[in-house]
Amino acid sequence: MALQILVLNGPNLNLLGTREPEIYGTDTLDDILTDLRTMAEERGVELRDTQSNSEGALIDSLHHARGWADGVIFNPGAFTHYSIALRDAVAASELPVVETHLSNVHAREEFRHTSVLSAVCLGVVGGFGRHSYFAALDALLRHLES
Ligand code: DQA
Repeated sequence: MALQILVLNGPNLNLLGTREPEIYGTDTLDDILTDLRTMAEERGVELRDTQSNSEGALIDSLHHARGWADGVIFNPGAFTHYSIALRDAVAASELPVVETHLSNVHAREEFRHTSVLSAVCLGVVGGFGRHSYFAALDALLRHLES
């Protein structure tokens, strides 16, 4: 059976394309997901994606993913920096989760230098704009296939 991957995007990422394009680029989330889906098809894996601006909905998606996903690509947006509830949901999922950021959070404001999620994630990718998602998918698949 094909590997199944959840691509989970948090707050404000629905505004990609018009939101601070000098930081996040001009691609919409749909643009990125379309290309990610093409990459997934080429690799023979299935993607499902969800975006929510609400912490509770993201937690629910992680709980649900326990029942069907093999791994998760997760851009938690600003929740990265303070949501212990999301950290606990990632840990409870017992799934390999790749924390993914468009921007290099370490090159930005001090409050973005901390992630409360990284320690319970398989790994972290950031700073490559839209390519962060492709790098995250590639690394996750290599991990799952090895
Ligand atoms: C982000 C980085 C976060 O600090 C920020 O709050 C976001 C996007 C990124 O993808 O670079 O919303 O996760």
